[in-house]
Amino acid sequence: MTYETLIVETRGNVGLVTLNRPQALNALNSTVLKELKVAYAGFHADETVGAIVLTGSERAFAAGADIKEMQALQFADIYKSDFISGWDDVAKARKPVIAAVSGFALGGGCELAMMCDFIIASETAKFGQPEITLGVIPGMGGSQRLTRAVGKAKAMDLILTGRMMDAAEAERSGLVSRVVAPERLLDEAFAAAEKIASLSRPSVLMAKEAVNRAFETTLEEGLRFERRLFHSLFATDDQKEGMAAFVEKRKPAFTHR
Ligand code: HXC
Repeated sequence: MTYETLIVETRGNVGLVTLNRPQALNALNSTVLKELKVAYAGFHADETVGAIVLTGSERAFAAGADIKEMQALQFADIYKSDFISGWDDVAKARKPVIAAVSGFALGGGCELAMMCDFIIASETAKFGQPEITLGVIPGMGGSQRLTRAVGKAKAMDLILTGRMMDAAEAERSGLVSRVVAPERLLDEAFAAAEKIASLSRPSVLMAKEAVNRAFETTLEEGLRFERRLFHSLFATDDQKEGMAAFVEKRKPAFTHR
């Protein structure tokens, strides 16, 4: 597959996707969506890949959905085609995805970063939901995921004013897990992804499912779900190997079974 808007590579056990529309600050158009789905599907089919890093350029992770592509759209058409619902597939990636964000992550760009499992930001990162300044509102999950990530006060502040927040504010508010120097960004994201990829695949996938369930259900049901997943991991070879390796004071050799 030749990509027009992405650079897709595999480095060791980590899949790397780089958004690559520099002329539009990586604005997300329908080609990006189509290609991202193909890239993710390839990584999911590749048993050697244990985690994915999604990044942009130094200047922009992504400056939003492509305004030029959206400008002339009409309600009836986008309603009938359920415009942008395809991004739900991206958010449902089963393998862990780390967003490595430098520069602008605005509108759909911020929303795409929030579809990832966690965000590592460069000190230069700027997050925002400026849709209100265009006469619309977030449409790829911003009003829901940002609110869950940073709480109502900060989400309202950002979404109603359209202002940007810097990396320090994003870390303070819980939107990003770590902030690093710009030149360290990819190394840091890779190190985290490699660590994840080295662990037992079934437990990694279940850990991700369990955390995500916290956003979907009651505490009681979430605890039950977690416990059942925990129980089920005792049917894996990797649980036997992981615990034996600890007791024998050696490194585990996970087979992902
Ligand atoms: C299309 C975009 C774009 C976007 C930037 N560009 N953002 N094109 N869609 N979202 C293009 C510009 O038109 C310009 O191309 C080039 O990228 C460089 O941008 P500049 O504006 O010249 O750069 P700068 O002055 O540094 O300003 C950077 C910026 C600004 C602050 C990020 O570009 C900006 O405000 N962009 C829009 C941000 C935004 O509103 N995002 C939300 C989109 S709506 P040309 O060829 O003109 O020089 C959204 C909804 C999502 O995301 C949910 C529903 C789909």
